[in-house]
Amino acid sequence: MHLSPLKRLGGSGSNTYHLFRTINKSRRYRKRPGITLSYAQSLDGCIALHRGKPLSLSGRQSLAFTHRLRAAHDAILVGIGTVLADNPRLTVRLVTGKNPLPIILDSKLRLPIDSNLLQDHPRSPLIATGKNVEEQRQRDLEQAGARVFRLPIDEKGLVDLTVLLEYLVERGIHSLMVEGGARVITNFLSNRLVDRLVLTVTPFLIGGLRAVGTLGEGDLNCFPRLSNVGYRRFGEDIVLWGEPVWENQ
Ligand SMILES: NC(=O)c1ccc[n+]([C@@H]2O[C@H](COP(=O)([O-])OP(=O)(O)OC[C@H]3O[C@@H](n4cnc5c(N)ncnc54)[C@H](OP(=O)(O)O)[C@@H]3O)[C@@H](O)[C@H]2O)c1
Repeated sequence: MHLSPLKRLGGSGSNTYHLFRTINKSRRYRKRPGITLSYAQSLDGCIALHRGKPLSLSGRQSLAFTHRLRAAHDAILVGIGTVLADNPRLTVRLVTGKNPLPIILDSKLRLPIDSNLLQDHPRSPLIATGKNVEEQRQRDLEQAGARVFRLPIDEKGLVDLTVLLEYLVERGIHSLMVEGGARVITNFLSNRLVDRLVLTVTPFLIGGLRAVGTLGEGDLNCFPRLSNVGYRRFGEDIVLWGEPVWENQ
């Protein structure tokens, strides 16, 4: 039987077809890439035991699905907290496909020169940083293969996402996968910068670092609800996806 590339990405005959189709339609966004927020959590909503400590939650099959999801995006973004904790590679090594461009939110240029993203990735990572970082540190990272993009810092002291996303779309990045960690997840949700959520739910209760921090103070407008929900089992994990909708959107 012949399967289209989209069906092969999503798994044969599965309802992930619609999920991958919406990612491929990300070009419809004009001012920013289409954004997929994706992470693995325990049953009690945690992504790690403690902030800064790595914890591998996904089983082999759901991890391979995450790699398929990565391969469907132009770029993949994480916060520097995740790089310092997990030293991720952010590649698609478990599947066949193109590695998305790695992007790190790192306002103080803390990315270690010996990190896997600089030493063991086929593409030059883009570091989104602040305007007042040390010149020498920037040169060292560039010499190690990174591209450094200086951006304004917002009122929370974080890299301004609006400017970054506009820059990315101007450079042909139409689909962006955001993988965490907790601060990044919370900030993208607070700013309503999520078009779809793809959540790997693993059968653990770990009482650790919650994926989602405070989104608002009791105002229902702050709390998204998922529409067009789909799910599929991968081994012992369940991958659940949907499109967040906010009241008064
Ligand atoms: N289970 C999973 O799927 C999964 C996935 C990823 C991570 N994790 C876990 O999550 C933990 C890390 O989470 P975390 O909250 O400590 O760190 P994080 O969200 O990975 O990174 C947050 C840091 O990124 C920088 N940043 C710059 N601009 C930002 C912006 N606009 N929005 C948000 N952050 C911005 C800030 O540091 P500067 O001020 O220095 O720039 C900020 O403190 C680790 O323990 C890791 O293992 C789990």
